[in-house]
Amino acid sequence: MLRRLMAAVAGVALCGALAACGSGGSASGDDDAITMGFSQVGAESGWRTANTKSIREAAKAAGIELKFSDAQQKQENQIKAIRSFIQQRVDVIAFSPVVETGWDNVLLEAKRANIPVILTDRAIDSDDESLYETFLGSDFVEEGRKAGEWLVEDSKGEGTVNVVELQGTTGSAPALDRQEGFQEAISGSDIKIIASQTGDFTRSGGKQVMEAFLKSHSDIDVVYAHNDDMGLGAIEAIEAAGKKPGEDIKIITVDAVKDGMQALADGKINFIVECNPLLGDQLMDLVQKVVAGEQVPKRVVVEETTFTQEEAKKVLPERQY
Ligand code: AHR
Repeated sequence: MLRRLMAAVAGVALCGALAACGSGGSASGDDDAITMGFSQVGAESGWRTANTKSIREAAKAAGIELKFSDAQQKQENQIKAIRSFIQQRVDVIAFSPVVETGWDNVLLEAKRANIPVILTDRAIDSDDESLYETFLGSDFVEEGRKAGEWLVEDSKGEGTVNVVELQGTTGSAPALDRQEGFQEAISGSDIKIIASQTGDFTRSGGKQVMEAFLKSHSDIDVVYAHNDDMGLGAIEAIEAAGKKPGEDIKIITVDAVKDGMQALADGKINFIVECNPLLGDQLMDLVQKVVAGEQVPKRVVVEETTFTQEEAKKVLPERQY
């Protein structure tokens, strides 16, 4: 620790003397341990809890010193955290961006400080790909597509199918992409999205929005929720309205966390598209390579599957999260 402090002080003095401090390599001086600043979205869902656990455990196992910051779903908190990591001269910054846009300035600051950035879970919308080394995460458009394709197949011959959509956080990559993929899959079919609103990826948000949908629409056939938590909130609202989730109103969600899988096995959800939160080990591998100056692919896509009610019953006992 002392060695690290002395190295940092020496580094600052050297930067001052050189006037322009843009290069200079590892912030940890001659200490071998990599220091990673990680800015997490928040703790909004079961998925996020599992993702945080995976990152903490993998950092520990890899001997990476983790500086963890919870943004509580606010972009301004993430920007502050990233600036603080830059000031602390961490070796690498990883973060899961709350929303897609508005990152160029702060990432340019990291680039000028010569600190590599890794995106994990969610992408950013920027023309400048040099602002980050790599992006590790799911293909959210594909997830939405899988949800839509299942519904097209399941509702064949049924005539018009009315869907209400519980969207994730407004402006976030998973909300935008899962909507896009779903729309693409159902286009040309008799499936119609009659209402769409954000539930911010939370159970309480999903419940509230579903209560409002049930009051304003008497003809809902299907709920498409961008994550399990909102789907679970919708189940509560549907039951409170005296209807049977999974039967009177079908439910499709994304994630496949334990609570979601339990509801699927119980017949209250009809189909789940998996989104894998266990990104820790892959992230640490990328961190080590990036800090060592090795080439890494610009995009690393996580492999995922889907679950029907029967499949959920089989895999539930071994489900890790
Ligand atoms: O970015 C991944 C999404 O964020 C998960 O699907 C959702 O549950 C979480 O909050």
